[in-house]
Amino acid sequence: MTNQDLLAVAREFGSPVYVYDAEKIAFQYNRLKNAFSEIKDLRIHYAVKALSNISILKYLNSLGSGMDTVSIQEVRLALEAGVAPKDIIYTPNGVSLEEIEQVVRLGVQINIDNLSILEQFGAKHPEVPVCIRINPHILAGGNSKISVGHVDSKFGISIHQMPLLLRIVENTGMTINGIHMHTGSDILDIEVFLRASEILFDSAKNFKNLEFLDFGSGFKVPYRENDIETDIEELGEKLTQRFENFCEEYGRELTLVFEPGKFLVSEAGKFLAKVNVIKQTTSTVFAGVDSGFNHLIRPMFYGSHHDIKNISNPDGKFRFYSVVGYICETDTFANNRRIAEITEGDILAFSNAGAYSFSMASNFNSRYRPTEVLWYNGKAHLIRERETFEDLLRHQKIVDLEAPAIKATK
Ligand SMILES: Cc1ncc(COP(=O)(O)O)c(C=O)c1O
Repeated sequence: MTNQDLLAVAREFGSPVYVYDAEKIAFQYNRLKNAFSEIKDLRIHYAVKALSNISILKYLNSLGSGMDTVSIQEVRLALEAGVAPKDIIYTPNGVSLEEIEQVVRLGVQINIDNLSILEQFGAKHPEVPVCIRINPHILAGGNSKISVGHVDSKFGISIHQMPLLLRIVENTGMTINGIHMHTGSDILDIEVFLRASEILFDSAKNFKNLEFLDFGSGFKVPYRENDIETDIEELGEKLTQRFENFCEEYGRELTLVFEPGKFLVSEAGKFLAKVNVIKQTTSTVFAGVDSGFNHLIRPMFYGSHHDIKNISNPDGKFRFYSVVGYICETDTFANNRRIAEITEGDILAFSNAGAYSFSMASNFNSRYRPTEVLWYNGKAHLIRERETFEDLLRHQKIVDLEAPAIKATK
C-alpha cells in the first residue's frame, strides 16, 4: 500500500480508519510455513484475539490457517468464517466448565490450563480428548503484561504439578492428545524459545496418546526501521531438528502447531487519523488527532511503539511533535517524535496497527469505534462500518425515573 493508496482510503472512508494489507498477511503466513517446511505436519492456528474481523479470519482460513481462540465467541466467529471445527483450538483461561462443555459440543479441540477444571471435566467427559497447557516457568516476553509463562503467572499448569496432573488423568481415564505452552509475546531470543521447548518435550514424554505439540507464539515483530525481530528462519531450523528428534524418541510423527497473532497481522495494519489541532506550548508542539486510546490503546497500555508518518506531507521538513488523542485523560501516542511538518487536516499513518489494535478498541468517551478496510488485490474493501449514534444506544434501556423529593434542611 502506497501513501497515495492510504490517502485515498482516508478520503473515501473518512478517519479514523484501520487499513489491513492482505498481501502482507499472506507473506507472513508463507514465511512461517517455509521456515518449518521440513515438518511433515505443521499447523498454523491464527490467534483470533489479535484481529478478529470476520473477513480477516476468512482470508487467513483461505491461506490454510486454523484458528486459536480464547472465548466461545471467538470460536463462533471462526465457525462463522467457515473454519472447520477440527481446525480450531480453544485455549481459555479462567472460564467456567459450562463454557468449555459448550465449546466441546461445537466439535472444537479444547485446551485446559488448570487442575480443578481438568479434574471436573475428566470425571464428566472421559471420552473427550483434551490438550493440556503447561506453564514452563520461563520469563519471556516484551513486558510484564505480556509475559505469561513465568512462575507467578495465572496461565497454564505448573510443570511442578505434573505428578498431580498424571494422577488426575489416570483416575478419570481421560485422554491427553496435545501439550501446549505459550510463554509471552515479543520474545526476542530464540534460545528462550528453545529452552521452553525442551520443557515441553520433557512434559510430553509423560503422555502416550499425543497427536500434537503446540508451541504457542510470541514471535517478535519489528516496530521501527531496522528493529530486531525473532529470527523465524533460524528458529525453524533449530526447532525442526529438535522436534524430529523428539518424534523419533516418542515413536510417532506428531503435528507441530503454532498460534501466531502479531507475526501474521501486526505489520499488515495501518491506522489513519486526521490532525485536528496543532497546539504549541512553552515546551512542546502537540499534534492532536481525531482519535485516542479508545481506538489504539497499546501505547498507553503497554508503552508500545508505533511509527507515525505524516502521509499528507511525507517530504516536509522534520520537526518534533507529541502526538496525542482527544480522550479526557493523558492520551499520548508518541512523545517528541520526529515527523514531517504537520498542518491541521493532515493524515497520520500509525504502523504495526494490525494486532491488538482494533480488537482492543472501546467506546470510551462515547466515541464510535472506527472503520476497518481490507486492501486486497489493489483495491480497498470495507470490512467494518464506522459505528453510529444508534450503536451507542443499542442494548441500553431507558427507565422512567423520578428524582426523589429533597427535604429542605436548615
Ligand atoms: C495462548 C496464546 N496463544 C497465542 C497468542 C498470540 O501471541 P502473539 O500475538 O504474540 O503471536 C497469545 C497472545 O496473547 C496467547 O495468549
